[in-house]
Amino acid sequence: MIDTSILHKAFADRFGRVGIAYAAPGRINLIGEHTDYNGGFVFPGAVEQSITLVISPNGTDRVNAYAIDLQLEASFSVNDTDGPSDVNMRYVYGVVREMIAAGVSVAGFDVVYGGDVPLGAGMSSSAALECCFATALNDLFGGGRLDRMTMAKIGQATEHKYVGVMCGIMDQFASMYGRKGSLMRLDCRSGEYEYFPWNPEGYKLVLVNSSVKHELVGSPYNDRRRSCERVAQMAGVETLRDCTWRQLEELRPRLADEDYRRARYVLGEKDRVLAVCEALQRGDYEEVGCQMYLTHDGLAKDYEVSCDEIDFLVDEARRVGVTGSRIMGGGFGGCTINLVKEGLYDRFCSEVKNSYKNRFGIDCQIIPVLVGNGARRL
Ligand code: GLA
Repeated sequence: MIDTSILHKAFADRFGRVGIAYAAPGRINLIGEHTDYNGGFVFPGAVEQSITLVISPNGTDRVNAYAIDLQLEASFSVNDTDGPSDVNMRYVYGVVREMIAAGVSVAGFDVVYGGDVPLGAGMSSSAALECCFATALNDLFGGGRLDRMTMAKIGQATEHKYVGVMCGIMDQFASMYGRKGSLMRLDCRSGEYEYFPWNPEGYKLVLVNSSVKHELVGSPYNDRRRSCERVAQMAGVETLRDCTWRQLEELRPRLADEDYRRARYVLGEKDRVLAVCEALQRGDYEEVGCQMYLTHDGLAKDYEVSCDEIDFLVDEARRVGVTGSRIMGGGFGGCTINLVKEGLYDRFCSEVKNSYKNRFGIDCQIIPVLVGNGARRL
């Protein structure tokens, strides 16, 4: 998390008074990728990297926002029906409008925000931004009335309606419900969730950011979702969660090969999440790692959301003897998530950095994972 005093100072310089600070984290996901919008299971945790804001109501109907990292400012009325065109500010505007639609009387406010969730790394900086604003506005204008799931859904609706990414609920759920030291298993169909203490003795979780910016806005992310929906519809089920292997094979002759492969990945991932849960109960991290590699194969070959740089990072992990490695998040760039034996950690970091630079001429960034708390007032 960034040093909040920087934001307090920027707020005071800009608006001449004192504000209140809130933070909401990005996330990792151990396994269960592209399963959320298919009604399946996900296994995320919040990270310490967060979006932080300093805010104060201003007694008008206007929102005056300043994004300190991007040096971007915007001013709009909470009653504005179009909102700002800048995509970054549309997240702020979308949350304001969705909070109002949920019955919270949001009025004007001044705000400065920033953070240390790397943008475009697949760590859900946008969900962190949405959840941070939802938490602050719920507190300041709603008397804390909305529950966390409602706020997560407000973040998701913001993506759908104001940004055009038809995402699932995983990222916003993780940002709202994160708990230090625990991963969570969420059943995206029922909304039931469980905390799993994450303390894999002898192993570390580490992200490698490929520096290839993943951008879900306007990306084929929505096409993947549509493929899944087509197959579910033909199988006569609401989501692929309820589609069996047998149903899929029976449908195969009538499916476009691409749609078939997308669904094959999703059904496989459903099985892998359950295999990982059982392996975790036994403390069998080697099995967890095997499943991570299998997920990557499916995401690369059947779901086709990887890229050369990421495939290289996963191959390097395998070569060095890392227990598990795969692309994380929506795909099309971003990070790999790696389960690494402590004794191998230093060698893995230095070898992967060097070989990546030699191969692509760009630096990758090693990000150790610390599982942190969800959205909150500071
Ligand atoms: C993005 C979306 C999530 C989820 C992941 C893939 O992060 O926002 O809802 O679909 O991709 O698992």
